[in-house]
Amino acid sequence: MTTTTDRLLPSHAEPASSSLAGRVAIITGAGSRSADIGNGRACAILLARRGARVLLLDAQLAAAQATERMIAAEGGTSIAAQVDVADAAQCQQAVAMALAAWGRVDILVNNVGIGGPAGNAVDLDLEEWDRALRINVTSMMLMAKYAIPEMRKVGAGAIVNIASVAGLIGGTPALLYPTSKGAVVNMTRAMAAHHGTEGIRVNCVAPGMVYTPMVADRMTPEARERRRLRSLLQTEGSGWDVGQAVAYLASDEARWVTGVILPVDAGATAGNAPSPDLKPDAKASSSF
Ligand SMILES: NC(=O)c1ccc[n+]([C@@H]2O[C@H](COP(=O)([O-])OP(=O)(O)OC[C@H]3O[C@@H](n4cnc5c(N)ncnc54)[C@H](O)[C@@H]3O)[C@@H](O)[C@H]2O)c1
Repeated sequence: MTTTTDRLLPSHAEPASSSLAGRVAIITGAGSRSADIGNGRACAILLARRGARVLLLDAQLAAAQATERMIAAEGGTSIAAQVDVADAAQCQQAVAMALAAWGRVDILVNNVGIGGPAGNAVDLDLEEWDRALRINVTSMMLMAKYAIPEMRKVGAGAIVNIASVAGLIGGTPALLYPTSKGAVVNMTRAMAAHHGTEGIRVNCVAPGMVYTPMVADRMTPEARERRRLRSLLQTEGSGWDVGQAVAYLASDEARWVTGVILPVDAGATAGNAPSPDLKPDAKASSSF
């Protein structure tokens, strides 16, 4: 158990460990819509590789069970459970499930997110808007509502919310998705401020358009290539890239990090590659 004194007077002799041995993690949307690697599945596998026992929540039980089998094949420990995180009672039961199995909750990864309805403010259907906001935003508050009291008992905790670069910049055709992801971004900062003194860190990963089952069936090879070229690294990302960032933020390696929004996007939100059309400023050295 971490005490306040441990937090205030740390030993600086050694860097913090990346190990999650002994920790219990809850991951929402830990399945994937296909047999491939989505963000939630990658997070679950990587946290289990670091030694965490992982509760895999998904509305599709078979999807969570597929992740459970992947973790078991590597010798890790996890339990799959069917949970709709838009339902408060089910969120509460999920936290109770982790306690019943392993007696504590250290890590919560709020990964569930859907594309939601298309359209701008004029076109949108109000019921679809409300339902999608509940899945993308309210669910994260609900899971935190029940997980944080358990983290308080441990004296520490790490929450990682999955947003999107769509929550950082404009340009997304629909209104719902960027609005909900923008809410996740600032909910993270607000939660970090509320729970920092309790030793509970709250951070956010904002993935770029990684190639996961969420987008795979909606993209032509040409669109995929154009998207790759839009980033500074001109490299396609995967769920693993998102999972690595989550594993870092969930571990003690990030013990001094809270309230951070970490884009994992090959530099797409940092700017554009330098324009080859712009010649060096030849007068720069003589003007000053
Ligand atoms: N794939 C991308 O390019 C991309 C980019 C930016 C952000 N994201 C975000 O990453 C997160 C996960 O993406 P993914 O690629 O793993 O998606 P995915 O669709 O492959 O997996 C998400 C899982 O969540 C589950 N789910 C959906 N609604 C649920 C609910 N109400 N309760 C419980 N489970 C539910 C689904 O059954 C699915 O297994 C989302 O928040 C998404 O917005 C993805």
